[in-house]
Amino acid sequence: MCGIVGYIGPRSAVPILIDKLRRLEYRGYDSAGVAVLEHGTCTVVKTVGKINDLAALLEQHPLDVNIGVGHTRWATHGQPSTPNAHPHTGNSGKLAVVHNGIIENYVELRRELEGQGHVFRSQTDTEVIAHLLEEKLDNGAEGDLYRALQLAAQDLEGAYAVAVVAESCPDRLHVVRKDSPLVIGLGEGENFIASDPTAILPYTRRVLYLENGDVGVITREGVALSDLQGNPIHRDVTEITWDVGAAEKGGYDHYMIKEIHEIPDAIRHTLRGRVNSDGKLAVTDLGLSDDDIRALKRIYIVACGTSYYAGVVGKYLFERILRVPTECDIASEFRYRDPIFEPDSLLIVISQSGETADTLAALREAQRHGVKVLAIVNVIGSSMYRESDVNFPTWAGPEICVASTKAYVTQLVCQYLLAFHFAVVRGQMTKEEADRLVGLLLQVPGQVQQILDGEDIYRELAENFMESRDFFFLGRGLDAAVSLEGALKLKEISYVHAEAYAAGELKHGPLALMWTDVPVFVTATQLELYDKTLSNIKEVKARRADVIALVRQSNTDIDEHVDWVIRIPETDDILMPFLTIIPPYLLTYWLSYALGREIDQPRNLAKSVTVE
Ligand code: M6R
Repeated sequence: MCGIVGYIGPRSAVPILIDKLRRLEYRGYDSAGVAVLEHGTCTVVKTVGKINDLAALLEQHPLDVNIGVGHTRWATHGQPSTPNAHPHTGNSGKLAVVHNGIIENYVELRRELEGQGHVFRSQTDTEVIAHLLEEKLDNGAEGDLYRALQLAAQDLEGAYAVAVVAESCPDRLHVVRKDSPLVIGLGEGENFIASDPTAILPYTRRVLYLENGDVGVITREGVALSDLQGNPIHRDVTEITWDVGAAEKGGYDHYMIKEIHEIPDAIRHTLRGRVNSDGKLAVTDLGLSDDDIRALKRIYIVACGTSYYAGVVGKYLFERILRVPTECDIASEFRYRDPIFEPDSLLIVISQSGETADTLAALREAQRHGVKVLAIVNVIGSSMYRESDVNFPTWAGPEICVASTKAYVTQLVCQYLLAFHFAVVRGQMTKEEADRLVGLLLQVPGQVQQILDGEDIYRELAENFMESRDFFFLGRGLDAAVSLEGALKLKEISYVHAEAYAAGELKHGPLALMWTDVPVFVTATQLELYDKTLSNIKEVKARRADVIALVRQSNTDIDEHVDWVIRIPETDDILMPFLTIIPPYLLTYWLSYALGREIDQPRNLAKSVTVE
């Protein structure tokens, strides 16, 4: 996904821009570039490929400059190529633009601008912004770039975070934002721009999060903000508290395995402030009144990818504990299926990034129908965080690997706390029972650690299944819900085809695929469903598949039926998802490692999907 950086100050800008671009590499990209003002002249250097390719180009053409913007592009309109890479310039070449998002009306704008004599050199939607700015500078803004940007933004439809350098403004950077994140980092006598605060963290912790429709002009000394009409506005400074070290690999080979090992702490942090020092449930500052909670008639959970699979667990949970009908939907389906919104319902959006385009659109659609939205996001200040009615954040810390792991587990924590809290308020669970379950939840970080301490079996499994091209994940109830996430993880990182099925579905189709040596990962921890799952294991084994069974510590009868057994600590059935997801995560990591995959940045995938 695209990334924007920018710098203005006394230091040499190029090394800072390159460093910041490297910090955004994890988002995935196909080309990169910078635009700087060199002796007052707008100079663009860009290339298809990696940041190292850009850095090599810049070494051939050293630029001693103090102001510039940079970009990593992930192709949406037009192939990955150097002409399509950002920054883009207009006819005059005197200003350069970097952009994240999509300009939906770029075809019409381009046609109009071409009619006015503008010559386009790329296939991108972004290039229209550069030409449009030039047009506004001449017509309406009287050479004032700040005003030109306000006017140009009024003509743009879609999502954008834009940063501009221009020869007419050698001491200023300009920015505008709508539906695509942009932050300004505040330094001493210098300032920074980034689409993701991770890029700014080594330089400053003080940031301004821009809101939709904010236009900004940034000098070395300060920042002025206005709305699109030019009315001055104010945004509070946010102090970023997470540690920059937390965003680095910390001795592990990959972010993925580091982040899996951070799961115990991520759970503890997410429980903090919601469980009191006596270990009792204490969700106090939710922003939903007890009357709202009592009135609830329906819950919608909407999300994408891993966050959606966390929501599938939430559906089981809310329905089982609250007896409130709960729908869990994929955001890209939900937003276009004209859902029926009922009064007294709550829509929960789940998102690690808080920026996923489809989930954000679903949030807005629900609000348009008067439905209250509660956001479970990991990025404070993200679009979903800002736009939802109620926030109940995960505290997983920055997640760098494209594959979501610790965020998923903390998304479960938030949903469990909400379910327990709602159930107590609605009188469906006694406070004592909620506290008993919270007591067990407090033991989960230690139990996850026990599983992490037994990593050897996953390396062994990885060695054994290196040649396998297909994997199946089976389970029932909450075990089925977690299997979905296990299969997604395996396919996205190892590139091995993986499918998850509710075990009861076997006879309705997938049994045809069970034959000699096909690996089948069966999770069988739900006590009430154990006998049924065991029957499914026997059916699969009868077809000579290779069965890996994930069972409770106390299970003594599984060994004779399967090829491999993984035992995990005991807890209440309902809390098992916190533990059953860890083995598939470890198996995925070690299999992908054995296969030599690009673990942290799997092909074709990006960390934050801000376009639909
Ligand atoms: O930031 P979000 O949680 O909204 O992202 C949703 C999905 O794009 C994300 O979970 C994706 O499926 C990951 N690659 C999963 O590992």
